[in-house]
Order: sequence, then structure tokens, then C-alpha cells
Amino acid sequence: MKKIDRETVQRILDTADIVDVVSDFVSLKRRGSGYIGLCPFHNERTPSFSVSKSKNFCKCFSCGKGGSPVNFIMEHEQLTYQEALRYLAHKYNIEIKEHEMSDAERERESERASMLAVNEMALKHFEHNLTETQDGRDIGLTYFLDRGMNEASIKKFHLGYALERSDALLRDAVQKGYNADYLVKTGLCIRTDSGRIYDRFKGRVIFPVFSISGKVIAFGGRTLKKDVAKYVNSPESEIYKKSHELYGLYQAKQAIVKRAKCILVEGYMDVISMHQSGIENVVASSGTSLTEGQIRLIHRFTEDVTVIYDGDAAGIKASLRGIDMLLAEGLNIKVVLLPDGEDPDSFAQKHTSSELEEYIKEHETDFIQFKIDILLQGVNNDPIARGRVINDIVQSIAVIPNQVMRNVYIAECARRFGIDERVVALEVSKTSYAHAEKASVKAQREAAKQSLESTPMTPPAVDAVVADAAPVSAVAKSDADMAFIRPFERRLLQYVLRYGMLRLADEYDENGEAVTIYVIDYVESELRDDDITFADPVVRKTFDEALKLRRSSWDGDFSANESLLLEDRARFIAEGEAEIRASDSDLSTIQRHEKELAERADVRYFDKQRQFASAYIEKVLCSHVDDDIRTLSLELVPEKHTLSKVHTKYSKVETDEDRLDDIVPRTIYELKDALLESRLRRIRQDLKSCVSADGSGERIMELMREMSEIQHLRGEFAKYLGERILSPRK
Ligand code: UTP
Ligand code: MN
Repeated sequence: MKKIDRETVQRILDTADIVDVVSDFVSLKRRGSGYIGLCPFHNERTPSFSVSKSKNFCKCFSCGKGGSPVNFIMEHEQLTYQEALRYLAHKYNIEIKEHEMSDAERERESERASMLAVNEMALKHFEHNLTETQDGRDIGLTYFLDRGMNEASIKKFHLGYALERSDALLRDAVQKGYNADYLVKTGLCIRTDSGRIYDRFKGRVIFPVFSISGKVIAFGGRTLKKDVAKYVNSPESEIYKKSHELYGLYQAKQAIVKRAKCILVEGYMDVISMHQSGIENVVASSGTSLTEGQIRLIHRFTEDVTVIYDGDAAGIKASLRGIDMLLAEGLNIKVVLLPDGEDPDSFAQKHTSSELEEYIKEHETDFIQFKIDILLQGVNNDPIARGRVINDIVQSIAVIPNQVMRNVYIAECARRFGIDERVVALEVSKTSYAHAEKASVKAQREAAKQSLESTPMTPPAVDAVVADAAPVSAVAKSDADMAFIRPFERRLLQYVLRYGMLRLADEYDENGEAVTIYVIDYVESELRDDDITFADPVVRKTFDEALKLRRSSWDGDFSANESLLLEDRARFIAEGEAEIRASDSDLSTIQRHEKELAERADVRYFDKQRQFASAYIEKVLCSHVDDDIRTLSLELVPEKHTLSKVHTKYSKVETDEDRLDDIVPRTIYELKDALLESRLRRIRQDLKSCVSADGSGERIMELMREMSEIQHLRGEFAKYLGERILSPRK
């Protein structure tokens, strides 16, 4: 897929109407100036999802999700930015002009398109057979109904039937004008050495496989006879990379997000039966062991995975390895074991959906514990066998990326085996050290390979548009670095959005004139001094925008507001004085009242000034034309208002606002510290690969020196943060 040109993007953004877009998925009611409905992103009974037509924006007040029409579609349909734009373009009949493609790209693209078209045609052919032909009904449909499938499921999964003739599909396709070459390329047909072409799936019931965006990319055909191969599947092709697809994901993705969990089963029938009984967040690995690509795919939607196992033990042991990959991806894994002789299909058919859910809830076991149980079966007290099991468990724990989780499991493992926690911890760290080493060698190799290969068909990145704006000088950071640093960056930006134009300190210039240092000035100069730019492009963009406001319009707006405030103050005092003088108090009472009035006028004045300053940046950025900036700002700003309410009601509650001179520097130092930490990590990696590759002593010394410098700096930071001093900057 090619990137959409800017002009078209703008047209899509201009045309898409939030009420219209959301209404396709949520039933909305008028409420005040906007609309309200049940949030599609989490389960709720009372509506908290609000849609503003004028702002062209939606937001859930409960879970916080929402955004522009594009954001909404991305989140709801689990699409990338580009895919969401295409969705909207399609909805509003906006024609998309593609970028210029090279001849090779165009050829490849049209080949893919032709293959998809042939598959689409075949899908219709098979579905038609199932319900509209005598054989289809007698053989295929009867089979599905016998197996307990209902009509809705058959439709939802587009099940079909391939007639018992070796050229039924071929003939239909050719007659409709499709090129037989594409039938062969997609694997729907097979070409023999002698050139004869025949249908691959003849006489089988058909399970189409959909891509994440709903395109038919492959088929599985189940035999109805005693056959050697129970299933025949489409071969890999330009449009079907088996290791990157999961059966049922297209139908499950929304439920996975909504329920924040993905259930993993083995087969086509398992997925369909679970759906039919009301559990829709289910996908199948299709019999083979999981691949990394499939795991990434799951991770796009959730971190929580529950694997359902049939009651047969041999299969379980064989698949334990695959689960380690899920752990390594940072997913939280639970396991459910079904009663002996049941698979998800048979079990779902025998139970109501609430029984099924109940069973899963009750029998979900943490994976590591489950693995210990399984491996310990029959081991008894044989020390050697126990040692082997411990080793195996250590392997699993060592791949978990999250240190906290790892520690939990180390403790659990130590407890289960009655050994010292430190021993387990040591084993785990030895193993993960070895893993890291292997991974870094692999990564280097991959990088080398990539730079050699040209990659004409790189998939569009979610933030392709954003990345365009990134300055070339930005240091390339790895995904892991980014993920680590991002929360620190966002927190700092949050203070800038909320309090950027509040006074932090006063400085005196060479003429002895007081100069106000606002929060945003302080942040900017701290970052500049250390040559830090935000790694996250959206954070950077938003910060730059705030800075622009500070530089271009603040001074003018501030003094304009200042004259209004002074007028207001004068009026307030004049009115108060008139009242005081109208009373028949004695002179000293009048004087006291006047003094109090002046004080009140000052409080009022400073309050208003503060309000103006603190709303200044957020007001503009929260309604910014740029989607990224607006979405991020809306996400980071809200809490403040509830806080300041507490503040005025019980004035003793300390808020962030009262402690800016502590919090802001601290947040900056935390960010700097995180940057150092991520540098340290990289140096350690380099060091490791240097040592294992017998690298030059000089390079190793250099790395060590850099490491100790950083550690020294971090020590200084720690002291600084510990002492909590802020000395106004010179
Ligand atoms: P199962 O044997 O559990 O199949 O294999 P199933 O889907 O439950 O089918 P029924 O219940 O016997 O009708 C699990 C998955 O492994 C793949 C298929 O994706 C199947 O759904 N498989 C199995 C094959 O690809 N080829 C085979 O020969 C067998
Ligand atoms: Mn089965």
C-alpha cells in the first residue's frame, strides 16, 4: 500500500464528520450541544462517550479513548493511520491518488491485486456452492450443521464447499474472465508438470482465511472422508505469509481490544464454536506452533493472552516452547486446561456461554506455575530430573523482559522447589545474559543484511506522517529506548502544557532588571544546555508548538490581558469602596474595610492572572488543527481541573501548582537520568558483544570509561534529587 498524498489526506480530514463516523458503530443521543453514547472501547452501562460535532472530536470520559475521526477509526477498527484514512476515503467516496510507483512496484501491486481478486471470486464461488447447489447442501452444509454450526456462524466465517469435480472452480473462474495463472499463483489450483490445471480443494468444506483488514488471503479445506490429510491449506504466496497470520483475527480483533484479552486455540472449528457461544476474542494458530510474527500481531491488540489446551498431555508438552516466545514478547500468559477428551470446539458446544466463561475464569492458571506443574508430573524426588525441570523454568523466566515480573516468578520458583531465591535469580541472570548476547549478534547480522537488501515494499508506518517532520539530526533511538523514555518525556510535556506560562523564578539581567522565568523557559533552557531533543516525534512537535506560542504571542497577549485585569481591579475596588462608604461605620472600621478590600482585589487579580497563564498553552494546543498535537494535549491536560477545584475548596491541599519549583526541575532530571540509563544499557550491550567477539582492548577501555562517567553523573543527579534544591539559574 502506498502513502496517500497530502492533499487527499487533507480532503479526507476536512470531510470526515465525527458524528457521522461514530454513528456507524455507536448509537448516539443528543445531550446539550453534543452527543453521548456507550463507549465502544470498554464495557459500560451508563454512557460516558461524548461526541462534539463542533470540535469534530470524541472522547470517553471514563477510559479516555477517542479523538478525531481518524483516531476513532484507528482505535475502533484497529487500523494503522494510512488504513484509517483509506477507510474514511471509501466512506466518503474520496478518490485516492497514489504516489508514483516504479514499474516493478506497479507490477507487483497489480499482481497482488489480481490474486486478491481471484480469491474473492473463489470465496463467492465456494459460498454459493454451499447453499445454492444440491451437492453443496447435501454434503457440505449438512456436514457443518451436523457439527453444530448455525447459519449465522457459517455466514460470519464465510464457510463454503468445493464441489467434487476437479475443475469446478477453474471453469467458473475462467468463464468469468479470470486468468488461470492467478488461480495457480494463489494455490487455488495446481498445475501439473504436463501443464494440466486442477482444483486443489475439490470435495472439501472450505474455511477462508482473512487478513487483518478483511481480505481473503488463503483457504483451508477439510476433507469429509477418511483421507490422508485432514486439512489442505493454501500454499504461501505473495499475499499469504502463513507465519504472519492468525485464523479468526479479523473477526476477533474488536472483541480482543474490548475485553483486553486474546484467547488462543488450535483449530478452525475451535474458533468458530467459541464465537458461536458468544466468546469472540478467539484466534487460532492453525495447528502449527506460534511464530514471532503471529505473536507481534497479538501484541498489537493486547498484552494478555490465555491459551486453551485440550486435555491431551503430549500436545501440551510439545507446545510449551512456543509459549516462551509469548513471554519474551512481554505478554502476560495464562493457561486453561480443558477436561480430558475435550477440545474448545466440543466444550463450547456442550456449554452455554456463561458456563464457558465461568470455566475459563476458574481454571485460568498463570503460565509459569502451569509449566512447573506439567513438568513435575511423574518426576517425584529424582534430583536430576528436578534439576532439569528447574533449568527449564529458569529458561522461561529469563526471557521475560519485565524485571518486576521476573522477580515475582523467581520468588515463586524458589518457593515451589524449596531453594534459595538468590540461587534462582543468579541462574536467571546468567541465562538472560546468554540470551542477550545471542540477540545482539543476531541483530547485528540482521542490520547488515538489511543494508544490503533493498526493501521496495516497506509497509507504511503508523506515524509515517509524523516522522516526516522529524529533524534529520534526531538521534535514532531503538524501539526499546523509545518505550523506556517516552513516559518521562510525556510527564515533562504535561507540566509544560499545564503550567508552562506560570512563573517559576525571577532572574536579574545585567541592568538589574527582573526577568520572569516561566516554566517553559526553564524547561527549554535545561534541554538546550544538554542538547536534548524529545525522542518521541509527537511530544517534540507539541513542545515546539508551545514554545512558538511563548515566543510569538505571549508577551502581547499577556499585556493585553494585564490591562483588562487592571481595569477589572479598579472597577472592583471602586464598587467596593462605594459600598463601604455608604455604610454608616466609623472611620477606623471604614479604613479596615478598605484595606481588606484592597487585599481581596489583589487576590482576585493574581488569581485571574494565574488562570490566564495556566490556560494559555493548553487552550490553544487542545484545539490545535494538527491531530497528533490535539490528541496528545487532550490526553495530558485533564486532571488539572479536578485538582485545582480541590485546591480552591480546601485551600490547604498542596497541588502540583504550588510545588512547581520542586516538581519541574525534578521531572527534567528524571528525564535526563532516564536518558543516561538508556545510554548505559546500550554501552553494556556493546561491551558484551565486544567481549564475546574478542574486540579490541582499546574499544573496551573506551566503553568502560564512558560507562563510569555516566555512572558518576547519575550519582550527582541522585544527590541533587535527594537534596531537592532549586537554585535559580544564572
Ligand atoms: P485439529 O485436528 O484440531 O482440527 O487441528 P480441527 O480444526 O479441530 O478440526 P476438526 O474438529 O477435526 O474438524 C487444528 C488445526 O491444525 C490445522 C488446521 O488449521 C486445524 O484447524 N491442521 C490440522 C492442518 O492444517 N492440517 C491438518 O492435516 C490438520
Ligand atoms: Mn476439533
